[in-house]
Amino acid sequence: MTQSFQPVRSRLVLCIGLAAVSCTSTADPEAEPEPARTSYANWAEPLALMPHGPEQTARVCARPGSDPVRDAFCNGAADGWTSLSELQTALHTDTSAMGPFSPTVTGSVGSLSINAHSTGLAARSVSAINPRVIAVRLVFQPFEMLAVGFTRGEQFVELVARDHLERNSLNFYLAGFRLPCNDTPAGCTPGDLLTPAIEHDWTEVSLYDEVDLANTTLDCAPCHQPAGPGMPKMLRLQEFDMPWTHWFWPRSEGGRALLADYTAAKGDEPLAGMTAEQITSADPQALTTMVALLNPTQPNEFDAFHIEAEVRASSAAKGCMQPFENHVPGESATWRTAYELAMRGDVMPVPYHDVKVTDAGKLTRMTAAYRAWQAGELARADLPDIRNVFLDDPQLMAEMAFSTDPSLDGRATLVSACSLCHNSRLDQTQSRARFRPDLDAMTRAEKDIAISRLKLPPDNPLAMPPARSRVLSDAARRSAIEALEQ
Ligand code: HEC
Ligand code: HEC
Repeated sequence: MTQSFQPVRSRLVLCIGLAAVSCTSTADPEAEPEPARTSYANWAEPLALMPHGPEQTARVCARPGSDPVRDAFCNGAADGWTSLSELQTALHTDTSAMGPFSPTVTGSVGSLSINAHSTGLAARSVSAINPRVIAVRLVFQPFEMLAVGFTRGEQFVELVARDHLERNSLNFYLAGFRLPCNDTPAGCTPGDLLTPAIEHDWTEVSLYDEVDLANTTLDCAPCHQPAGPGMPKMLRLQEFDMPWTHWFWPRSEGGRALLADYTAAKGDEPLAGMTAEQITSADPQALTTMVALLNPTQPNEFDAFHIEAEVRASSAAKGCMQPFENHVPGESATWRTAYELAMRGDVMPVPYHDVKVTDAGKLTRMTAAYRAWQAGELARADLPDIRNVFLDDPQLMAEMAFSTDPSLDGRATLVSACSLCHNSRLDQTQSRARFRPDLDAMTRAEKDIAISRLKLPPDNPLAMPPARSRVLSDAARRSAIEALEQ
């Protein structure tokens, strides 16, 4: 059953052992022109290389900790789950019974929030037609909190829970799941991962905690414990206030524009256990309330109110009706200040300035393809990757936090693309701390390792930056390498 993953695993071990030598030799800079690095299908997926199955879950359960995630997973029940809905039921976050701020079966408060652009782990999968769902459950006496994030396209569910014993501590987990397609020679297609098919017929569920994820490209710490070990962990929500620019919300113009794009593609299809009615009444207020209870301030907050107003005014002056249209990208001084701060590497990326991150032409094509699949006119295996809807202008790619700003020189590119995970605040005992994007006191040998990592194709698990996080243009990659050669 694990067969299809074995070869990759041994390559990873080989590459780690010989990082500077064997991995470099596979990527000769003088060879063929580089392939476009924007496709999703060929990302390296770290979970595929990690141990999985009941033994993995047991390993997590043997470690200390007590919270609603462990309550659900650590009694052996997880080994029999075959769907998202079974996982949700076990966590008491059964979305089918939730509305914005609704009581759940257990007498607690539940809520559903949905975003159409994210700067989190699943950022590059999230758009209006493939949104990210966050279900939250709060219990007041004794106080308990659990948040569950799910995005189609990603074979994991993101979990954060407040620890029962360590009162102010948050525990982060991924519930990785496998599908029948993982065990076929061709692997999973967009049709397997981006339709309701991903929500059921799971063949295995495995729990990973922060110990397992540390120093991997799925590590939660860079964003959820940014000040480093021993410092508080935090919930994140950069769009902390009305009008919640990138969230489905029927009470804002932007929220309605996103919902219209969603509905055009998906119709009344259920998502993650929700009916179309639940989806169209999602409300980010509840998530805000929960995040504010634990983390009343967010570093580099996205000032949605001012940014939306500035974007509208600047685009209207050029004849573009934001938020419904986005052919003229908005301009916002408030947003630019936050963007420049993130570019200098001190804080995590800010969300895009406009409501929509989608290219109108691509969105129309992917919407039509999805509708054709729904109508039975297109086979599931032929569904294109409907995540491929983003604006692809290099400047706008950078502004959505998917790439680096074309104006940056090599050194500034490294700072902007690498500082999230490589900085002096995070755990300095981990191997990734050996690379410093400011190149301060870095030896020639360390710089050479970085050059070799930058030259790897995105499907290599050692490729840097990880494709999930950023994609460098060929020009940016070249100038980053030149800076490292000096
Ligand atoms: C690149 C930064 C980043 C990383 C890495 C990251 N997150 Fe998040 N996370 C966010 C942001 C930003 C949000 C707010 C919602 C959004 O933008 O999608 C968020 C939201 C969440 C939420 C909803 C509750 C909340 O805090 O708002 C959960 C649950 C979550 N993340 C779990 C995880 C887990 C588990 C990991 C690690 C396996 C992780 N995240 C890694 C940035 C990140
Ligand atoms: C999303 C987080 C993330 C980003 C962004 C990122 N890295 Fe990494 N990097 C890691 C992790 C995790 C490791 C440790 C695991 C490994 O060796 O692959 C690592 C390891 C490395 C190493 C090996 C260090 C050593 O000596 O073992 C180098 C070099 C490196 N990264 C360079 C870069 C460069 C250059 C960039 C930006 C262009 C970058 N990384 C961006 C997460 C990241």
